[in-house]
Amino acid sequence: MDDTKLILEEKDLPKAWYNIQADLPKPLPPIMHPGTKKPIGPDDLAPLFPMALIGQEVSQERWIEIPEEVREVYKLWRPTPLFRAHRLEKALNTPARIYYKYEGVSPAGSHKPNTAVAQAYYNKQQGVKRLSTETGAGQWGSALAFACRQFELECKVYMVKVSYQQKPYRRSMMETWGASVVASPSRDTEAGRSILAEHPNSPGSLGIAISEAVEDAAKREDTKYALGSVLNHVLMHQTVIGQECKLAFEKIGEYPDMVIGCVGGGSSFGGIAFPFVKDKLQGRNIQLIAVEPEAAPSITRGTYTYDFGDAVGMTPLIKMFTLGHSFVPPAIHAGGLRYHGMSPLISLLCDEGIIEARAVHQNPVFEAAVLFARTEGIVPAPEPSHAIRVAIDEAIKCRESGQRKTILFNLCGHGYFDMAAYDAYLSGRLEDYAYPREEVEAAMKSVPRL
Ligand SMILES: Cc1ncc(COP(=O)(O)O)c(C=O)c1O
Repeated sequence: MDDTKLILEEKDLPKAWYNIQADLPKPLPPIMHPGTKKPIGPDDLAPLFPMALIGQEVSQERWIEIPEEVREVYKLWRPTPLFRAHRLEKALNTPARIYYKYEGVSPAGSHKPNTAVAQAYYNKQQGVKRLSTETGAGQWGSALAFACRQFELECKVYMVKVSYQQKPYRRSMMETWGASVVASPSRDTEAGRSILAEHPNSPGSLGIAISEAVEDAAKREDTKYALGSVLNHVLMHQTVIGQECKLAFEKIGEYPDMVIGCVGGGSSFGGIAFPFVKDKLQGRNIQLIAVEPEAAPSITRGTYTYDFGDAVGMTPLIKMFTLGHSFVPPAIHAGGLRYHGMSPLISLLCDEGIIEARAVHQNPVFEAAVLFARTEGIVPAPEPSHAIRVAIDEAIKCRESGQRKTILFNLCGHGYFDMAAYDAYLSGRLEDYAYPREEVEAAMKSVPRL
């Protein structure tokens, strides 16, 4: 593609989500009840999620139609542009062609509204009045606040304390859309109070904030819980990203040799990669690379076993790569990647060798982010900057080998609320955290045995 960007038309917006469960090499292990340790049924999840989403979580249908009301909201920003990174390629002097799908054009600034809008819609359909959730980077909380406003639902957000302090304007954004936001661990829940009693200065974690939001929903009749990542239905809603990429590549007569994305819980990576995984399972040669932080390397250093999704142990048990649910990752700036576990779908595909994973430190990540901003213009969020790091590394390898590979990565959010992180990097104050082996070993001791 000689052009700088390709924008599909509104009529090209996908009409169905792609459900990779229909094509997995083997079925997902069942989700287990935290008390009985036996497989759970839909009724066990009903206090937390509306039935339509519980159905999607276990569906084996390959395609699930996107409701018209959801597509109408998607049209506020979708289809999103596919860029060719001509300027970055030139700076790297690489023969590789680098493409990126830019999800930062959504109202909240990331891919997260792709599922937030769907989740708010199905909750509204079932008569739910209020949603509770957690947010790490603030991106997911913003997305849900926006989506709740579209469908006139109340929204309560438990925001990981370190992000609450690093990004005060994310809170203002959520409040602008009408959500109420507290720093987690908070005094609003038993889970928050018990963690504060033991660790008054806890920086919080996604696992802790999930415990608070789940408790909130479980205790109130009018409230259900919304999760921004990890679960099967969440990753499925994100497949609009990869489907649009495939159509755009068809239009320009190209196909990527590799797809790269960052992984926290796995939704942005699953969203861009799964439609390509479908091709790989049918024999196509394509590399799929998930990039995680060295500070929370669940796939590259974790164990593939059953564990809780939250810190306290309230959620069902899912088989995934985990560092132990009580592990609190160091306070890196990529708040959305500070999670102990990984989506069960991505975990299975990694375990089967279909997806590969790499871990990177935050200083090289910011070095890549700054080069990207100086060449391509967009200031990327710290999370997708992990993908940029690996895309640049791969493009440099192409320079050395002379190979002309086509590289696609997911630029799943902008970093305009992350300037404190850039400030720390530019002034030399950004720390790299060594892999916290002892803490992970301690946390793994509390992982339940089935
Ligand atoms: C911009 C951005 N990218 C990535 C992530 C990581 O989550 P996931 O792996 O589900 O995409 C987050 C999470 O908050 C995020 O805000």
